Order: sequence, then C-alpha cells, then structure tokens
Amino acid sequence: MRNNLIEKAKKVLLGNKKRGFTLPTNNKLYPAQWKWDSGFIALGYSHFNLKYAIDEISTLLKGQWKDGMIPHILFHDLNTNYYPNHSVWNCGNKIHSSGITQPPVLAIILKKILDKNKIKVTQKIKIKSMVQKLKKYHEWLIKYRDPKNTGLVSILHPWESGYDNSPLWDYSMNEVKVEKNLKYKRGDNKVINPEYRPLDSDYDRYVTIKNHLRNNKYNPKHLYKKSMFNVVDVGFNSIFLRANKDLLELLKIFNFEHKKLHKFILKSENKIEKLYNKKKGVFTNYDVKNKKKIVVPSITNYFILFANLKNQNINKKIIKNLKNHNLKKKYMFSSIKPNYKKFEEKRYWRGPVWINCNWIIYQGLKNKDKKFANIIKEKTINLIEKNGFYEYYSFKTGKAFGANNFSWSASLFLDLIFEKNNN
Ligand code: GLC
Repeated sequence: MRNNLIEKAKKVLLGNKKRGFTLPTNNKLYPAQWKWDSGFIALGYSHFNLKYAIDEISTLLKGQWKDGMIPHILFHDLNTNYYPNHSVWNCGNKIHSSGITQPPVLAIILKKILDKNKIKVTQKIKIKSMVQKLKKYHEWLIKYRDPKNTGLVSILHPWESGYDNSPLWDYSMNEVKVEKNLKYKRGDNKVINPEYRPLDSDYDRYVTIKNHLRNNKYNPKHLYKKSMFNVVDVGFNSIFLRANKDLLELLKIFNFEHKKLHKFILKSENKIEKLYNKKKGVFTNYDVKNKKKIVVPSITNYFILFANLKNQNINKKIIKNLKNHNLKKKYMFSSIKPNYKKFEEKRYWRGPVWINCNWIIYQGLKNKDKKFANIIKEKTINLIEKNGFYEYYSFKTGKAFGANNFSWSASLFLDLIFEKNNN
C-alpha cells in the first residue's frame, strides 16, 4: 500500500513538472512557480532525483531581484487566467514576478539536501552559488524588513506569510481601506468551490495592498513605513530564525563571511521571546502598523518549535499547549484551534489541515518529544493514505478540499516516509 503511494507521490510531482520548475498543482489554480512550494517540492525530488531538486531551486533563484528579494511567484507562462498575473504586478528581474516574498524555507531545505545526499563536485559548485544568493536574500530581509534592527522581520502583505486568509490577519485587514473603484476579476473561485476559498472582501484588500506596493514601485526602503499592512508574524519569524541557523552552517561550509548573521541570530533568539505570553504559554503576533498584539490560536504560532529555541522551559510549555490544539482528534492539526470563534472547517487557512504545517511542526518536535512527533508523522501519512494528495483537509472527517495532485503534499509525504534516522 505504502509502496504504491510512494509511486503515486512521485507521479504527482512529475505530472506537475515543467522545464526547470514544478507547478503547485495541475488543475490551473496556480499556473506559476511559487516560492515556498518550490522549496518543499525540491525536498521531495531529492528523494528520487537530485538533479530535479537542484534545478527547482536554481530556477527559482534566477528570478531573484537585483536587491536580493526572492519573489513569491515567478510567471514563466504569461498566458494564463491567473489573477493577479504578471502584467498587474508589473515587476521582476530576469523573469516576470510578483513584488512580494514568501516564507524563507530555502536555506533549510538546501541544508537538508546537502546533509543527506552524496553531492557531485559540479552540483556542489551550483549549491555554493545558491548559498551566496540566499545570503543576499536573508540580508535583504534583515535590512528592509527589520530596519530598526530589532531581531524580528515584518511581512507587508498577508500573502507573504503563505497562509493568506488566516484569522491572524482579520484585525489588520479590517484597518485597510479598500481602494475606490477597484476593478479586477478573480480566477481562483472559478476553479475551486468558493466556499473553500478566501472571500471577495479579503481579495479587495489583497488587491488594494498590492496596488499600493506597486504605486510605490516596490521600493523596499520606503515600504516598511508606508505599507498598509505591517505585521511581525510568529510563524514567518520562526522559519526565518531556523533558516538563519541553517544558513550560518552553509556559510561556514563554503567559507563565506558569517559573523553578521551570527549576531542577528543571537538577537532574534532573544527578541522572539517578547512575543511569548508566559501566563498563557502561547506566542502571539504583533501588528506594527496599528501597534497591537494579535492573539489568534493559529497552528503557525507553533512553528516556534521549528526554530529550535534554546529556552527549554518555553519549548516544554508550548508542546503541552500543542497537545490541546486538537485534543483526541483523529486528524490534525487544524490550522486554527476549533473552539476559536472564527474557525471554519472548510475555508482555506481558517481551519483545514495543511500538510506543510504538519511537516514543519513535526520537524520542530522530533528532537524535543519524539513520541509525540511520531504520532504527528503517522497521522499525517494516514490522512494522505485515506484521502489523497490534496491541498487541505477537514480536521473532523479528513475530507479533502482545494486542488488535487498537490505538489507539496506529495513531496512532504515522500520526505516523511524516506526520512532517515529521524534527524
Ligand atoms: C496559496 C497559498 C500559498 C501557496 C500558493 C501556491 O496562495 O496560500 O501558501 O504558496 O497558494 O500553492
């Protein structure tokens, strides 16, 4: 049964593969290359075709902007029904792209690939150049998304988090005044049942913020202050902290300068604890624009485990809390805690289970609570065995929603299955 599924997972990836990159799915919902999808996809390929893994990241890095930013979407194919497409973003370097970024998972993935594979000399040279590009990208995030040098970076659009319509953004999005006479045509809710997708009122704001960024020529020097949306997100910062720790190791391997990064890591490790509510034992977001703490029980707050904080007291408390997130449920983790007032079972990032979230949490747990980590791993594999490689699932019934043949679900399934020695 599992062997069959392994072959199916590989087929999903190969079925979505284009020249040098892979689509998130084959159903026209996402007809481009997405940044964090590509990272997860590369990890999946690394278990059966190292060349494809390296090509995937290489192609993504070809779209890096001159200032170092790596865009969240690269539009290789200009002839699609996707909105917002390349012409409304109207930016890019060598490849048409969006003007915002997405969670910085690439250094983490690259380190995993390097640690677990026999790498040929020619591939090592390619990886060295990738590391150099990632160094530039991390420097961009630090310089422009943390201009006050606090140790924590901001996101300037909900899409940058990767969890677009999470209730985490409800407060901040309500503060965004929708542009007058806004005109656009969504494509996503023609492909997928609108009940499972973000609302039009969300899209109005996504587009308003995007237009504002474009009107400011995506100039990172000004946008931190000017942006209509500016949030320090626990999930994004946890991924960044982990990615910085992994990048530090990569910089050492390839003899690149790394002292500045080391300093930033020490600062982040310390400052991220400011987002911790000791009484409740939870991490919470901070809206920089509106100067407000955002308390929403999102699974992404537990990405802090992935950052491998040295503070074991916090880690223990967090794990205890995590065990209550979906108490005794067959399927986990719902993206939002089910007793939260704005939880929705079927709507995108407002409740369903996402395989990449489970994978991140599993990675964070396995060196802290192996038994619990293995439960998560088994439940995640079982969910896929029963319901297929979909985009997201109901935490109650396991029923699948969104796109089928979803690349990162297939990739991360392969990674969970093939993972060696639990490290
Ligand atoms: C959606 C998701 C985002 C993902 C993209 C492609 O926008 O919210 O996380 O990267 O689709 O799969």
